[in-house]
Amino acid sequence: MPGLTIVGTGRYVPGEPVTNAMLSRVMDTSDEWIRQRTGISQRHFAPEGVGASDLAVVASQRAIASAGLEPGDIDYIIFATMTPDNPFPGPGGLLGAKLGIPGVPALDIRQQCCAMPFAFQIADGLVATGAATTVLVVGAEAHAGFMPWENWDALAGDASAVSAEQRDRATRHRGLAILFGDGAGAFVMRKHALPDHGLLGTITKSDGRAAKLIYIEGGGFTRRPHWAPWMLDAELHIPRMEGRDLFKTAVTKLPEVVLEICARHGFTLDQIDWFLAHQANDRINNMVRDSLGVPASKVPSNIARYGNTSGATIPILVDELTEQGALEPDQLVCFLALGAGLHWGAALMRL
Ligand code: ACO
Repeated sequence: MPGLTIVGTGRYVPGEPVTNAMLSRVMDTSDEWIRQRTGISQRHFAPEGVGASDLAVVASQRAIASAGLEPGDIDYIIFATMTPDNPFPGPGGLLGAKLGIPGVPALDIRQQCCAMPFAFQIADGLVATGAATTVLVVGAEAHAGFMPWENWDALAGDASAVSAEQRDRATRHRGLAILFGDGAGAFVMRKHALPDHGLLGTITKSDGRAAKLIYIEGGGFTRRPHWAPWMLDAELHIPRMEGRDLFKTAVTKLPEVVLEICARHGFTLDQIDWFLAHQANDRINNMVRDSLGVPASKVPSNIARYGNTSGATIPILVDELTEQGALEPDQLVCFLALGAGLHWGAALMRL
């Protein structure tokens, strides 16, 4: 039986890159520290007034065009983001409206950095049941709003425009703030024409016991009101992250789930042509790669240019590899990701 495959890809990142040196104008950090600990050199941020749905619309239009289709050919949208335009509704419906396809069902998913294994699983189910034939899967993030600095002009210019208090505040959150960047990536997915091609299987897992390894405490619907000025003063809108524990969890869970999906489908690691991993930190992916014993050439990285774009990383990476002509028909791809929730998973696809 043919499975679901990627027939179009697109990406979009906003504005000019923000380098590590530019971040050091607003907090105590350095290009050397960031590159050594994460592999990141630069990232992009959505400008004021631009939300995840705006980033997604450009990536989606590019993906639809690359598939040789029109927006009207899309009959389902899956929108993955952890930074929606509004607390509710999710941005899927907004995206449909901006693409000019109101009425097309739009599902918002909240799988953070593990968006794609879950999105593939859902899209596969939708197509298998006949609910959809052509699914737009998009991941888009505007993390800029939780960055711990207020003076955005200082990034590009004069560090003296940042007060000592502002610098201290940003420095308190530096472990998190240097990681994330904004952008969108999109896939158009349809059934493959050939048997035994397309999505072969997915494994997804969740464990809420570890939810506090990375989460936003403020704005939750358990509080009355959901937002109050004291929460902003307490910086509860900025994610809290236990970076070391998250790192250790990622380098344990990701190899496990890759081995599990390979065993389930009867493949050995050397039969996999590409391991397309979520881009959270190059050191995580290098350790996962080394513990599996797979060559670096099979685990491409683009985190240097984008940082962690959460739900958008895998489609941005696939779009770049497609542009480079790196992905070839019949190749076997293993997707792997772990993110806040915690959610983690893997997917196997024969191109
Ligand atoms: N610049 C300079 N120094 C820094 C910075 C910075 N940006 N950040 C932290 N430091 C300092 C710390 O203050 C600490 O100093 P100290 O030793 O004097 O106390 C020192 O560097 C080491 O800090 P650690 O936090 O222990 O650094 P670590 O090596 O663990 O790296 C990092 C931090 C990069 C965040 C790492 O832990 C990591 O990548 N964790 C995983 C993140 C992740 O996987 N995210 C994916 C999921 S995200 C999602 O789903 C949304």
